[in-house]
Amino acid sequence: MGYQEVYQSWKDDPNGFWMEAAKAIDWVKPPSKALFDENPPFYEWFKDAEVNTCYNAVDRHVLAGNGARVAIIYDSPVTGAKAKITYSELLDRVSRFAGALQDRGVSKGDRVIIYMPMVPEALVAMLACARIGAIHSVVFGGFAANELATRIDDAAPKAIIAASCGVEPGRVVAYKPLLDGAIELAAHKPDFCVILQRDMAPATLTPDRDIDWESFKAAATPAECVTVRGDDPLYILYTSGTTGQPKGVIRPNAGHLVALLWSMKSIYGINPGDVYWAASDVGWVVGHSYICYGPLIQGSTTVVFEGKPVGTPDAGTFWRVIAEYGVKALFTAPTAFRAIKRVDPEGEFLRKYDLSCLKTLFLAGERTDPDTLHWAEDKMGIPVIDHWWQTETGWAIAANPVGLEHLPVKVGSPSVAMPGYDVRILGDDGVELPAGELGAIVIKLPLPPGTLPTLWNADQRYKDSYLSRFDGYYETGDAGYKDQDGYLYIMSRTDDVINVAGHRLSTGAMEEVLASHKDVAECAVIGVADSLKGQVPLGFLCLNSGVERPGDEIVAECISLVRDKIGPVAAFKIACVVERLPKTRSGKILRGTMTKIADGENWKMPATIDDPAILDEISDALQALGYPA
Ligand code: COA
Ligand code: AMP
Repeated sequence: MGYQEVYQSWKDDPNGFWMEAAKAIDWVKPPSKALFDENPPFYEWFKDAEVNTCYNAVDRHVLAGNGARVAIIYDSPVTGAKAKITYSELLDRVSRFAGALQDRGVSKGDRVIIYMPMVPEALVAMLACARIGAIHSVVFGGFAANELATRIDDAAPKAIIAASCGVEPGRVVAYKPLLDGAIELAAHKPDFCVILQRDMAPATLTPDRDIDWESFKAAATPAECVTVRGDDPLYILYTSGTTGQPKGVIRPNAGHLVALLWSMKSIYGINPGDVYWAASDVGWVVGHSYICYGPLIQGSTTVVFEGKPVGTPDAGTFWRVIAEYGVKALFTAPTAFRAIKRVDPEGEFLRKYDLSCLKTLFLAGERTDPDTLHWAEDKMGIPVIDHWWQTETGWAIAANPVGLEHLPVKVGSPSVAMPGYDVRILGDDGVELPAGELGAIVIKLPLPPGTLPTLWNADQRYKDSYLSRFDGYYETGDAGYKDQDGYLYIMSRTDDVINVAGHRLSTGAMEEVLASHKDVAECAVIGVADSLKGQVPLGFLCLNSGVERPGDEIVAECISLVRDKIGPVAAFKIACVVERLPKTRSGKILRGTMTKIADGENWKMPATIDDPAILDEISDALQALGYPA
């Protein structure tokens, strides 16, 4: 069946569509129906089913006789390590680690935080939690102690699993001081921590709290899979909102299993035994869905890559990995391709490798700009597929489902809505807009299986953040339009979230940090266009009266404060001191207008502006920083 027929079959009978997809999952007890809509606006999928995600991702492939198939390929150009782990070996490692967690009192429903770099042990830890019904929450390694502490307090984990360090090009990032700092800052204390010791920077263990990974699992009896209910959470993943308090997105077991498995075949065209590579990080949703769970549930081989697209050691690394392991589909963010293109515009590295195994390139995390799309298409000669989704949904809202049918690609569009998603464009008044008109992109409730049912311990925040503006719809936070053929165009965010190198960051969170500096009276952070990272943050600081110190000194302190409090991933490196911030008469800072000035776009003087002269001052300050670029 082609895309239109599949989409229509879902529209005609959503329950039947998802119950059919659910047949591909091995249930302990199959669901009696797909959607449970008795408690709107909270919707659940396959709620009365009984299942185990780890069983579906690991055990069943071994039981089916495919234990010798490679489950995980580990390739780490930053350390020189390479390894292949078969499904049988993975089962052994996961069940042993799960047994060790059980021995230390971790059981169904307990939370476990995982703070690890791109090593196979990160997947082992995730799957071990899934095996015993514990709820994991992976925190990206580029976040600082303070961010980790916020997540510890919200998730209240029984245990934290961390590595002694991560390896970034040119520097080893010791995780242990960050972990210790976070536990010190947090009100909640975990019972214990498991530390994976890495040779580059082994950690000194804290007595009575830390256990080294090897000895932890050595004595354990392997654990069997613990049956959970369909709606029991598999994991919590925190994502940026408009404030410094991240939102804990909940992912229930059953809907996630069904949706991811459907997507592996229908969107990515991946079969059991194929090699699939998502070049992202386990700390992001892409890493959860398409480094760990999706490929393994499908019985394919996943690549865990610890490196960067350039500089580890060169702009040919991606091509080397694809050729060496026979990768069939690559998934990454456009920024990675911009990085490669910048270093190797002619694609000379590309020509050194036989990439005939690679059938499709998938891009997401930010809009694929036309230059990047054309460059990738020209140089690689394969379909380049932009697709759009977010942490909350866990899988694509819109895509070009090459596994079903390769639809015509339209530049600048992630193509069409996937089954399960009824995507509409609404005006401020909540009325649906005609094709071509820009508005808020919303999804008619209920969202499909695999998406968030609510936020961790925050039902009201879930309603306030996503459901309150348009009755009966989920607000994606993105603005854009649909064309006559139903292709979507995602143009910007409607909130204070910015997208830096495919990473979603909150300008509100950065402003909270800047405002905590003793000399800063007021501040604003905007995202400005960047040719490599898509956007980078830029800060404006208004100082307290009477501050005599040089502005440069304060700017430097503020930059390191954001790095210390949020982490290097914020990439906050540009700020300036200004006398005043432009505001509306009601006191709202005009961030949108400042962004347009910085990006050199046309802008209109807002009718509600309090003092137009301030925008001239902002324009001068931006020019001094080199903006518009
Ligand atoms: N642990 C510690 N620090 C980390 C980290 C981690 N796991 N990941 C990133 N950082 C640090 C980097 O070292 C860098 O620090 P610096 O300011 O000292 O240089 C900072 O955080 C910013 O990192 P990043 O945004 O990755 O920038 P970069 O300049 O190192 O690399 C790209 C730029 C484009 C090459 C890189 O972002 C990339 O490969 N992106 C791929 C896309 C991706 O993974 N997207 C996720 C969603 S699909
Ligand atoms: P995250 O939750 O970190 O995955 O970020 C999700 C957000 O990234 C979306 O809401 C969009 O703003 C943006 N995004 C992700 N993929 C795309 C895409 N293909 N096109 C445009 N924006 C995207």
